[in-house]
Amino acid sequence: MPSVTNASGPIGAEVRGVDLSGEVDDALFARLRDLLHARGVVVVRGQHLTEADQVAFAGRFGSLQKILFSEHLVPGYPELFLISNVVEGGRNVGNTDAGRFWHTDGAYLPAPHRISMLYAVEVPHRDGRPLGDTVFTGMAAAYDALPRATKARIAGLKAIHSLVHRYETKTGSPEDLVARTRKYPPAAHPLVVRHPDTGRQCLYVSEGYTTGIEGMGEAQARELIDALCAHAVRPEFHYRHRWEVGDLLIWDNRQTLHKATFDYLPAERRLMRRATVSGEAFA
Ligand code: SIN
Repeated sequence: MPSVTNASGPIGAEVRGVDLSGEVDDALFARLRDLLHARGVVVVRGQHLTEADQVAFAGRFGSLQKILFSEHLVPGYPELFLISNVVEGGRNVGNTDAGRFWHTDGAYLPAPHRISMLYAVEVPHRDGRPLGDTVFTGMAAAYDALPRATKARIAGLKAIHSLVHRYETKTGSPEDLVARTRKYPPAAHPLVVRHPDTGRQCLYVSEGYTTGIEGMGEAQARELIDALCAHAVRPEFHYRHRWEVGDLLIWDNRQTLHKATFDYLPAERRLMRRATVSGEAFA
């Protein structure tokens, strides 16, 4: 029987005692999916997953994204990409930059990514302590905690989200990468989305991708976006994930933001495999 422990904040749960390699039966899958909807982020500890296992399990949630930046694909698995600081033969084996800013995956797409999952192959440690935590914030709790006047002000507004903004203004990325992001035009989504599975209202705004608000002047929109982002990342809404090798960390992009912690050195190896489940446009 799996053991499930909820984290102390509004999001996050840890599952032990299950094996997601090979066939995962319907009852276990349904239990994990429901837990994910209820808690936003779920870690399944102690896994030994091949690439095929990860693709098969992720595919139970829906169709998987083919990845944007092909140099970091796992050979033979276009649904998996690597996030890593490992350099082999003079080249980075994975994306070194993922999660540098608070964001929700695929917000710049008309149908943003629904669910993402990272599998920990190598985790950096120093003095016996894991490094490279991933921090999440719960956007349903953040919405609930807004003052009533703010809820009234943002009801019905749509925000603009842009990948180009993220690459051009925030990362100092090489020009070719910036150029490739230009084929993704900005997308507009409600500032408050209703989660289709829980019915809860969630703030949908992020430091990484949100650039404006439809029908609002630039300065006023920037002020509102910054205020909402600062509110959303208050520590009481957080779950901080401390990695162990063999963790499969699953998160629901419709109700969380996340951010990586870059507190490890180039020699302290970190290697993660990511799969991403496609989503639908918000109603
Ligand atoms: C991501 O944003 O998908 C990566 C998070 C991490 O590497 O911790």
